[in-house]
Amino acid sequence: MENKVYIYMDNIINDSSKSLKQKLKEINKIKPWYHNICVNGLYCKGEKTPPARGRNYEAIINELPESLNGMTVLDIGCAEGAFSIEAKKRGALQVDSYDYSEDSIKKARFLAKEMNLDINFNVQNVKDLNFLNNLGSYDYIIFVGVFYHIGNEMVPSRLAKLFKKKLIFETTETTISTDKPIIELNKAIATRPGTAYINKRGMDFLMGCDEGNATSKLVFRGGRICCSYTKK
Ligand SMILES: C[S@@+](CC[C@H](N)C(=O)[O-])C[C@H]1O[C@@H](n2cnc3c(N)ncnc32)[C@H](O)[C@@H]1O
Repeated sequence: MENKVYIYMDNIINDSSKSLKQKLKEINKIKPWYHNICVNGLYCKGEKTPPARGRNYEAIINELPESLNGMTVLDIGCAEGAFSIEAKKRGALQVDSYDYSEDSIKKARFLAKEMNLDINFNVQNVKDLNFLNNLGSYDYIIFVGVFYHIGNEMVPSRLAKLFKKKLIFETTETTISTDKPIIELNKAIATRPGTAYINKRGMDFLMGCDEGNATSKLVFRGGRICCSYTKK
């Protein structure tokens, strides 16, 4: 019989005999941290780097108001929760966060528990029609780094109807130069199925700007594109 030792993330997370530093290090061996979040003075990745979306983190996070007191926030494709955690720290009343990766959600819940933050982290495929149809409205919606994974327009079109104050939309930008709306869906390449590319006018179209429902602001572009939308 093979003599393999299996290490499970749950065992590490729930082992109260281990220090936080040990737990962070051991989880990293099973699945490296995507986000780098500071929890009780320790960084998930062991060093101080931006929590999420690299050099664009500051620009994205500055799109959220300093105070989210009493606000509801939806984080779609939250990974380990860098944006959700920041929203809760800014006083949000309710933060609902979804990702289809069980490992990411386990890690996100672990961090929230360590930080004593009440955030609803859920395992969910956000392309699921039942889920989309039953989603309620939120003051703020964070839709960052997910559209190019999803590769269809269903999710952003539905989210466009659900935000009350602001939606932050970040994804990969098309290289096609035109004034017309571009939405390149399922431009799959071998290693990244579902990849999608878009330009600002394409994003505006999905967010219903053409119907006069929202106004958009370009936050940054160049490889990645981020726009924030507010309701008129
Ligand atoms: C590039 S990461 C972005 C994470 C975070 N929003 C950020 O910007 O730092 C994409 C995340 O979307 C999640 N994801 C991709 N497709 C998904 C789907 N259909 N349903 C739920 N989550 C999905 C992945 O598991 C991953 O955590």
